[in-house]
Amino acid sequence: SHHSDSELPVHSNGTIQQLPQTIIIGVRKGGTRALIEMLSLHPDITAAENEVHFFDWEDNFKKGFQWYVSQMPFSFPHQITVEKTPAYFTSSKVPERIHHMNPDIKLLLILRDPTERVLSDYTQVFYNRLQKHKQYQSIESVLIKNGEINLEYKALNRSLYYLHMQNWLKYFPLDHIHVVDGDQLIKDPFPEMKKVEKFLNLSPQINTSNFYFNKTKGFYCLRDHGRERCLHDSKGRAHPHVAPQILDKLYNFFHEPNRKFFELIGRTFSWK
Ligand code: A3P
Repeated sequence: SHHSDSELPVHSNGTIQQLPQTIIIGVRKGGTRALIEMLSLHPDITAAENEVHFFDWEDNFKKGFQWYVSQMPFSFPHQITVEKTPAYFTSSKVPERIHHMNPDIKLLLILRDPTERVLSDYTQVFYNRLQKHKQYQSIESVLIKNGEINLEYKALNRSLYYLHMQNWLKYFPLDHIHVVDGDQLIKDPFPEMKKVEKFLNLSPQINTSNFYFNKTKGFYCLRDHGRERCLHDSKGRAHPHVAPQILDKLYNFFHEPNRKFFELIGRTFSWK
């Protein structure tokens, strides 16, 4: 069921647009932008600039693979093309669709502490609304209804990693899905990126000097051929304060789903 690549567009300098050989499937707010930017430090990687939303948005999916390829950057044939669409991970129809394109594809999934992810998700929506001059409820009022965790809050569902992972494991073997530790990528990106390099069978090219900690930003930034740059201001924002009792409720809420996730992938993370 491989998609035929006999009619791919060729540029005059010998570059082509290729289907991605690896996809960053999520998770939303996991550190997907940092991951794709850091991966792009590697000379054998070319990355789609924007989120493509091919497999999850019907309007795009129905345009077919020719459209999908047209969204990819021009690359030399030996290079690996990567795109990131964080919404893929939590969309139940996506695994089968990607499998149909390429059952051997290597998938990258970056996760972070599910409670942190919820707060980050809330913060993202909060700023999106602010930009549109709309109000947004307080974090506590979306998290808690009648004194209990509000199960209807979508951001909670996105942090139930085992639920979504189950769908992927119906189509892909575990060793084709590399889970990047998003909390570690924040604290110390280099070791996480070495693992990604290895997973993708890339030659070891990313090195420690590609990263430097920027005190003003409070995060690692990138150094590429002497040029230094940090991620956009929307990456690494302060989260709202949440009362400790509510935080504890959240940690408890995720305890069992986390355990199920660890069991599913045979690996644990130091989530609270
Ligand atoms: P916060 O803004 O909530 O801190 P995504 O790109 O998937 O939307 O993820 C955004 C998150 O990436 C940020 O969430 C931030 O914590 C994390 N991140 C990881 N490494 C980063 C880096 N070097 N610079 C900025 N943000 C980084």
